[in-house]
Amino acid sequence: MNIAYISSPKGGVGKTTLTANLSLSMQRLGYKVIALDLDPQNSLRHHFGVEVNDSRGLVTLLSPDISWQNYLLETSSGVSLLPYGQSNRDQKKAFDNKLATMPNFLYEKLDQLVLPEKSIILIDLPSGDSSALECIEKIPSVELVVLKPDGESVVTLPLIRTGKKTFFVINQVSRPHKLNRDIMDFYEQKMGSLLMGSVHKDEAIPESFSMKKTIFDYSPYSSLISDLDAISRNLSRIFEF
Ligand SMILES: Nc1ncnc2c1ncn2[C@@H]1O[C@H](COP(=O)(O)OP(=O)(O)OP(=O)(O)O)[C@@H](O)[C@H]1O
Ligand SMILES: [Mg+2]
Repeated sequence: MNIAYISSPKGGVGKTTLTANLSLSMQRLGYKVIALDLDPQNSLRHHFGVEVNDSRGLVTLLSPDISWQNYLLETSSGVSLLPYGQSNRDQKKAFDNKLATMPNFLYEKLDQLVLPEKSIILIDLPSGDSSALECIEKIPSVELVVLKPDGESVVTLPLIRTGKKTFFVINQVSRPHKLNRDIMDFYEQKMGSLLMGSVHKDEAIPESFSMKKTIFDYSPYSSLISDLDAISRNLSRIFEF
């Protein structure tokens, strides 16, 4: 089972956007992609055209008898999506409690999925520490930590617990800015081969979101596409070994 999860010590760095865009990019490489949202914000679905009043999601699918397979939403992009689900406080607590008290719960749910050989599960996480992060750290998987090239991300570096398969992606890189370039140099030196790639800061990202289009449809010739495809190729190589 190929599983990668997108985390970050800091909020708002672009995890959800990256999860959505990497899903599309991995699909271009021929993978069947399952995009899973473990963040109670439930915002990954907005990148896949799910209606706001559609409350479906994994938050209520706690029973051991329920297979998540039957609840995957087939999106028009071709990516299969399992949103977190619209939920009230009690439902969120119950889900969190399940993750905290049954560390195997998530693994069992993912293991039940019947997927083609060339498939990948990409998981969007809440920022910082969470029961979901604790759970997924125990599952064989690749972690992509998203950071921005700014001081606020740099100061969080000592807080990151790195495992055997932790890699870094730097998002919102703006080369014309000296501080950005300096911090990128610092990341490159510090992370070496663990730096899986970077993504340019580009207004096409929020614009495409507002237009309800994928970045691949909205701006097919932007350097974002090659950024995303490079990260996907690297990710795919890691799974081959
Ligand atoms: N490469 C980029 N260029 C320009 N804007 C970007 C880029 N990546 C993300 N953004 C913008 O940054 C904002 C935050 O993105 P996103 O919601 O994906 O972050 P997040 O890490 O998932 O946040 P949270 O911690 O709340 O879950 C969004 O407005 C998004 O459009
Ligand atoms: Mg998010």
